[in-house]
Amino acid sequence: MTQDESKRKAAEAALPYIKDVAILGVGTGSTVNHFIDCLADFNLTKEIKGAVSSSIATTERLKKIGIPVMELSESGNLDVYVDGADETNALKQLIKGGGGALTREKIIAGASKKFVCIVDESKTVKVLGKFPLPVEVIPMARSFVAREMVKLGGQPIWRENYVTDNGCEIIDVHNMEIVEPIALERLVNNIPGVVSVGIFALRPADVVLVAKASGVETL
Ligand code: A5P
Repeated sequence: MTQDESKRKAAEAALPYIKDVAILGVGTGSTVNHFIDCLADFNLTKEIKGAVSSSIATTERLKKIGIPVMELSESGNLDVYVDGADETNALKQLIKGGGGALTREKIIAGASKKFVCIVDESKTVKVLGKFPLPVEVIPMARSFVAREMVKLGGQPIWRENYVTDNGCEIIDVHNMEIVEPIALERLVNNIPGVVSVGIFALRPADVVLVAKASGVETL
């Protein structure tokens, strides 16, 4: 099975979780794109009244298949949020933000009762941090936050020529061995100028669907 086929399998496995859900939270990335394709392929677009989207890219894709996109302030809290991840550990704590949508993803995850995360097997790790940790920053704080991340043991690299949907910038922090995800999430959140950090540990996923060659495993 190719990685792309695995992503599709994980996406299909999320469909039972959205049964009878009128308004859905939808994340960002190639795995979520498969999930959106599934909504169309399995004729679910009529059953879904609307979606709250975590990025401009996802909004466009949802609109293309006829799902109305609404603001979170309009929808209120959500029952289910479906999104991918860059890494997951056994506690369903994640690194997210490879696609740059981490802040909106974190907001929607926080506002949802159930966060269903869909990944292929390559995303599972014992300790988070092999994947460079994305940190979204207010542009004027970029160098300052980078220096603070060096103090925490990381090697920050500016995602050049990249502006988030919120008009901010991203630093990808390499070589972090995140043994205490909750503590590090709190610490980085508290650095002035940080909009959000791509550790999802204070609010981890509730379910992680991992597509493997042998089938989809539920964490
Ligand atoms: C988007 O900002 C990310 O958090 C994505 O959820 C994550 O990068 C997973 O993306 P893929 O499904 O493309 O691997």
